[in-house]
Amino acid sequence: MTEFRTVKSSQNILKELMIPSYSNFGGKVHGGIILSLMDKIAYTTAASHSRAYCVTASVDSVNFVNPVEVGELVTLMASVNYVGRSSMEVGIKVYSEDFQHGITKHTNTSYFTMVAIDEQTRKPVAVPGLILEEDVEVKRFIWGKIRKKMKADYRQAFQTLPSEVDIARETQSLAEENCRIALS
Ligand SMILES: CC(C)(COP(=O)(O)OP(=O)(O)OC[C@H]1O[C@@H](n2cnc3c(N)ncnc32)[C@H](O)[C@@H]1OP(=O)(O)O)[C@@H](O)C(=O)NCCC(=O)NCCS
Repeated sequence: MTEFRTVKSSQNILKELMIPSYSNFGGKVHGGIILSLMDKIAYTTAASHSRAYCVTASVDSVNFVNPVEVGELVTLMASVNYVGRSSMEVGIKVYSEDFQHGITKHTNTSYFTMVAIDEQTRKPVAVPGLILEEDVEVKRFIWGKIRKKMKADYRQAFQTLPSEVDIARETQSLAEENCRIALS
């Protein structure tokens, strides 16, 4: 019998204080620290839904809309938006909270595609379906389905990029670009 689980059963929250060792030379938190936290919560959310070992298959574009400062509390909220056969799209919202001024900022929203793997065969395995209990969950599922198709189309288009470039022919197209060709 096909198994189904609710979105809520695997929703996750992760909070972490931004300590000085997380900062870059400009005093802000490294983007990589946030990405690492996102990968952790994507894993726990997907593993909780599938009850399987999962790998990160892809990460959608991550746009940081606000910097994160040392001393702030970062909160990540994650939900399984969409499931296919073996893949799960985990939507992650990241906020940072400045305690002193009582300000909470949205840092970014991103989507991770996680794939459940059979530990013996190392092949993708089927995951439970999603029970969608609210309008917003149905909407997220539909958007996830659209994004899955867009990503598959993009991967296919990417394969068709030419491996060879005719430099002499393409040089003109670089006239307005921020480069200077200095071939010897
Ligand atoms: C992700 C991975 C398991 C896919 O394996 P595969 O042999 O291509 O498997 P399939 O073609 O059967 O695809 C399995 C599922 O993954 C999805 N998928 C595969 N590659 C994907 C990608 N690049 N982006 C998003 N989804 C992807 C497929 O759409 C499919 O979803 P579905 O089962 O829900 O329809 C494999 O590429 C892998 O192991 N990658 C390394 C992952 C890893 O180690 N991550 C950590 C890096 S440090």
